[in-house]
Amino acid sequence: MAEKYMAINIQKNDLIYPYFVSAGKDKKVGIKLFPGQFRFSPDRLIEDVDEIGALGIGKILLFGIPDSKDARGSSGYAKNNAVSATIKGIKKRFPRLIVMTDVCLCAYTTHGHCGILRSQGRKVTRSQVKIDNKKTLKALAQMALSHAEAGADYVAPSAMAKGQVLAIREALDAQDFKNTKIMGYSVKYASNFYGPFRDAANSFPAFGDRSAYQLGFSDSALAMKEIAADIKEGADIVMVKPALAYLDIIKEAASRFRVPLAAYNVSGEYAFVKNGASLGYWNERKMVIEIITSIKRAGADLIITYHAKNIARWLKER
Ligand code: PBG
Repeated sequence: MAEKYMAINIQKNDLIYPYFVSAGKDKKVGIKLFPGQFRFSPDRLIEDVDEIGALGIGKILLFGIPDSKDARGSSGYAKNNAVSATIKGIKKRFPRLIVMTDVCLCAYTTHGHCGILRSQGRKVTRSQVKIDNKKTLKALAQMALSHAEAGADYVAPSAMAKGQVLAIREALDAQDFKNTKIMGYSVKYASNFYGPFRDAANSFPAFGDRSAYQLGFSDSALAMKEIAADIKEGADIVMVKPALAYLDIIKEAASRFRVPLAAYNVSGEYAFVKNGASLGYWNERKMVIEIITSIKRAGADLIITYHAKNIARWLKER
């Protein structure tokens, strides 16, 4: 157990950098609520990945932003959408970069929920948001397959649909994508920290909230069950999200399970630091290193963070 008490140092290998991609050409557009992050068109994103390579970051996570939405989120699994085009372009230029893709419907549905709804189109109140799990699993599997076909190394289902890891594993295996791995968003809390992301992905729920399918933040027992279930279903990496207000969950997961554990330092956690730094409340670099170190110290093997590029720069300077 000695290593448990060793000093924790962040390494480039611990980091996963998230990217937002939308259709079009030559676009890199800032996001109002999300300082320092952009929506890229595939060509500009592929260019930007040069920097990732130069900084020695080995993994990225792609989020798609469609130009059309419907109740079933079908643009998310349409052939040759912006995500697929980006994966192909990146893999051609940087074959060794690990490309992970988010698999969820919320950016692609008109209602902004993560799955296909049972009562489509009708205005429903918060307590009535009901997901059609079977249809949702089918759509998620289709989306995962389209990413695998384009060359994704990992698909990362984040819809919190029951059985999503298994449904995707089976669909991948059936099409001979046995080497495509799965990072499960195993524990995803119905958190208040997702605001800037929802601005980026344009995925604010049109009505109700996500408490029908995301975990309540007072829970910890269910969190462990969700991780165990994802591992059983075949997840290669499991995840806790958000990170900072959930370090206890990360620590418990790390002590209970052997599968690599990722923690998502989400958009709201990031924006706090950026906005506070711009007001002169704290030194951004010192604050980020403290936060990311604490997430690693709690037991995360991988940290998904919008700070990744800056951290890699700072590590180079050291
Ligand atoms: C949902 C999804 C969310 C994030 C990534 N995928 C949250 C949500 O809107 O419920 C949030 C990530 C972040 O805040 O950085 N598919």
